[in-house]
Amino acid sequence: MSEQVLDGGAVRLRPWAEADLADRVRACEDPDIARYLPELPSPHTADDARRWIAEGAPAAWQAGGAAWAVVDPATDRLLGAASMLPVGVSRNHAAVGYWVAPWARRRGVATAAARTVSEWALRERGFDRLELLTAPTNAASQRVALAAGFTREGVRRGALTDRSGALTDLTAYVRLATDSGDRVAPGLPDLPGGQLTDGHVVLRRVTPADADDIFALQSLPEVAKTNLGGPITPEFMRFRCERAESEWLAGARADCVILDAATGAFAGDIGLFYQEPFTRQALIGYGLRPEFRGRGMATSAARLISDWAMEHAGIIRVCAGTFPYNEASRNVLRRAGFEQEAYLKAKLPGRDGGRIDDIQFVRIAEQYR
Ligand SMILES: CC(C)(COP(=O)(O)OP(=O)(O)OC[C@H]1O[C@@H](n2cnc3c(N)ncnc32)[C@H](O)[C@@H]1OP(=O)(O)O)[C@@H](O)C(=O)NCCC(=O)NCCS
Repeated sequence: MSEQVLDGGAVRLRPWAEADLADRVRACEDPDIARYLPELPSPHTADDARRWIAEGAPAAWQAGGAAWAVVDPATDRLLGAASMLPVGVSRNHAAVGYWVAPWARRRGVATAAARTVSEWALRERGFDRLELLTAPTNAASQRVALAAGFTREGVRRGALTDRSGALTDLTAYVRLATDSGDRVAPGLPDLPGGQLTDGHVVLRRVTPADADDIFALQSLPEVAKTNLGGPITPEFMRFRCERAESEWLAGARADCVILDAATGAFAGDIGLFYQEPFTRQALIGYGLRPEFRGRGMATSAARLISDWAMEHAGIIRVCAGTFPYNEASRNVLRRAGFEQEAYLKAKLPGRDGGRIDDIQFVRIAEQYR
């Protein structure tokens, strides 16, 4: 089909032109573009850019897809790229893709481009389902997807071959022709202003840079024995921290670090696992480095995260389980406003193949107390 120009308000989508060559080369030097778009040659030379402009982009149009330069409507300078490609046998499904040059980020360019492509593909091209596939570590792109009206569908295991040849997962976001197109809310809301604090501790979302601190904490014998999952390794902790924001957006878990408010030092971690969105019940778990224990920090953290869960995330019941020997944790919970609710015999799988009793606490949203 013939190449088209789309007016997206703050952005214009137009066919690629020879004049974009230098900006395309400069943009594609960005490590995130190289990381998240392994199909692009990297390093991206002038010859690569020339081939794309002269052959690659026109070929996409000839194949029933679309490949645009995203430009500033006032100056016609390159801001990024956007594409649409039919997928699947029925030819009623298409995939949407984009990148934004480092100099044009964080001002809504990707959102405007994704929205413009989507509305055109659904309304004018008659597709009934659009997919937007992102790396689970690519929180920025997942936020673009939500802002452009896509709903998270799930993780496709091993769906992409990365530059090293390894199979990696992709998170699928989907927008149907029947969807409203309104911005989709993340599964769990962001912390207001990016953090929670009571002046004693600060909680903020776990980032990839926290992996070593959390690994060291989780490796302490007294912390490791409260972990019921698989063995903790540095690789696993990196994997978890890199995906923490994605899990948050999915509404599965809100993983935070606990910082000493006075010094900013890493004091521990606390997570909220949204196990039962239907009943609006979540579970929290936490751990502190030994040098920060006995100062009320876990109490502050448990209170802050449960306040946030009830006031911002609509959670009604925040639960916490304690092993029978763990009186310290029960004291934390009582001080944080939780009450003992149940003694569940053999509730938890033990590492030795046996079962462990679970003494459960709960804090309930104000209006149901
Ligand atoms: C992902 C990318 C396209 C975002 O482009 P952008 O123009 O900066 O995005 P927007 O300004 O439209 O921002 C959209 C949302 O993402 C958030 N966001 C943008 N960059 C972010 C970042 N680095 N970390 C976290 N959130 C980020 C914005 O705050 C905004 O969130 P909101 O809607 O909740 O307010 C750009 O970072 C990029 O090109 N990355 C490398 C290539 C890539 O990942 N392409 C997508 C492959 S699937």
